[in-house]
Amino acid sequence: MDFSDQNVSVLEAWPKGSVTRCYELKVQTASIAKLCKTSTVVNVNGMYPGPNISAREDDRVVVKVTNRTPYNISIHWHGVRQRLTCWSDGPAYITQCPIQSGQSFKYRFTLLNQPGTLFWHAHISWPRATVHGPLIIYPKQGVSYPFEPPFEEHVIVLGEYWLRDIQDLERHVKESGGGPPSSDAYILNGRPGPLHNCSRDDVYTVSVTKGKKYLLRIINAALNMEHFFGVANHTMTVVETDGEYTKPFNTSFLMLTPGQTYNVLIEADQPIGKYYMAMAPYMPAKNVPFLNKTSYAILNYVTHTKSIASPPTVEVDKLARKSCSRRSMILYEPILPNANDTESVQAFADQVKSLYPNQHWSPIDVPLKIDKSLFFAIGLNVFSCNSSDADRCQGPNGGIFAASVNNITFRRPRVSLLNAYYNNLEGYYSTDFPDKPEKMYDFANEAPNNIGVDTQPAIGTRVSVLEYGWAVQVIFQDTGTVGTENHPIHLHGFSFYLLGTGLGNFNSSTAVLNFYDPPYRNTVGVPVGGWAVIRFRADNPGVWFMHCHQDVHTTWGLSMAFLVKNGKGKMQTLPPPPPDLLPC
Ligand code: C2O
Repeated sequence: MDFSDQNVSVLEAWPKGSVTRCYELKVQTASIAKLCKTSTVVNVNGMYPGPNISAREDDRVVVKVTNRTPYNISIHWHGVRQRLTCWSDGPAYITQCPIQSGQSFKYRFTLLNQPGTLFWHAHISWPRATVHGPLIIYPKQGVSYPFEPPFEEHVIVLGEYWLRDIQDLERHVKESGGGPPSSDAYILNGRPGPLHNCSRDDVYTVSVTKGKKYLLRIINAALNMEHFFGVANHTMTVVETDGEYTKPFNTSFLMLTPGQTYNVLIEADQPIGKYYMAMAPYMPAKNVPFLNKTSYAILNYVTHTKSIASPPTVEVDKLARKSCSRRSMILYEPILPNANDTESVQAFADQVKSLYPNQHWSPIDVPLKIDKSLFFAIGLNVFSCNSSDADRCQGPNGGIFAASVNNITFRRPRVSLLNAYYNNLEGYYSTDFPDKPEKMYDFANEAPNNIGVDTQPAIGTRVSVLEYGWAVQVIFQDTGTVGTENHPIHLHGFSFYLLGTGLGNFNSSTAVLNFYDPPYRNTVGVPVGGWAVIRFRADNPGVWFMHCHQDVHTTWGLSMAFLVKNGKGKMQTLPPPPPDLLPC
């Protein structure tokens, strides 16, 4: 590839691996035949899910993204902490203007101290449904995993598939004021599996050899759905989440919110056979229609004498299928929790702990003294319908769905917030994002009846300003204003220590918080009608988006941004924008 890198001077003082890895992502459209129908799908390099971007810890990554679609695009590197590279973070209208049709943009960043599984995805609303792919960061050369090296590694990207054009769908949802239609299938690495129509062969299969250990890197790239994942008859050992090692623990299922990743080890220790790997929805919200269907991939034991490759010709394939009796094809199914089983989800989430305890020698550095304490009430709202056009009011009680943080619905500015901040452009945002809700009430249990204050949110583009280096605590509290729900809150630019989660209203005298070995994550599932407490150190200057990773909630306004000011000296100062910065 032909990347010229004249812009490297600002990075001189940075920790920088000996290697720069260059990738080229071409965003384009293509027809895909799936579920008995051919649809046009926005994809990257003709692949769906998109190509794997891999590098080692400390490597510098340069990705040239070219937009060959008629739509606006931008790409976000989900979980990459972007130390001093806020301009490359990617959320449209937050750190950059979208890459318009025919344009390209180079993202440049260094992968500091974060080996593990992350992913990249479009960050301009719903095209994320099909524009995404793995971002795998291997340990530095010569550094091994903190667990026995697996025989092989496999990436499994969980997604949602719509037969309908995703741009259309987004427009429809915005115009209707109502909820999103559920997807037509859940998919594993782009494949719905054998139980869907026209999908007998549209199945993702992992071949394993008996007695070997495998690392599965599982990414939930679904647009709006949380998912359980499990492998029939095989125990999974969780070893990493969101790109950070965890204390290993065994489990029969995972629950991944959109935006979360888990690495698990499995041992092929079962009788030779085929075992289903399943994804199934977790939907704790009441009265929300969703696709309650399980999708399968296959874990297939192969014997040494057989090639693990597919049969060479279609003829052979057909023949084999005819001659096999049903019995030899027996598939074992995993048992996953029910779609509304919050108890199991909480029990699972409670087991996730950082590998390293909080001791002076360890990488764990939970801020113990807080400089900024925030309480964010998050949830859904309804705008009352004052339009004469009743078509736009298909939300609850004839209103228009919205969502908010501290009752403020985020409105995207027309320029990028980062650009507005950097160049002191007036009038695009305000710096008065409230530290806490205007009014405290029984968030979890009572839908407030004071509609003027609580159900109808304010609209604004407000940021919360943080001084460089501040230790920040955020208590997230889910609200029942419209209905409680598990909200996967994702923070850009930082990982955070997740000190605890619980059900009901947060109560500082009863909440059990873990300061010893809290997981270091980028996305937290704030439990349905519950709370989560996180801490992070604001040591990365720039404008950082924070939002619900269910895209429809972001569309409705469940987001805000932190503006982290510069500190002292070059290494605490946001560098100037890249020369190829795009105009809006
Ligand atoms: Cu994975 Cu702001 O997103």
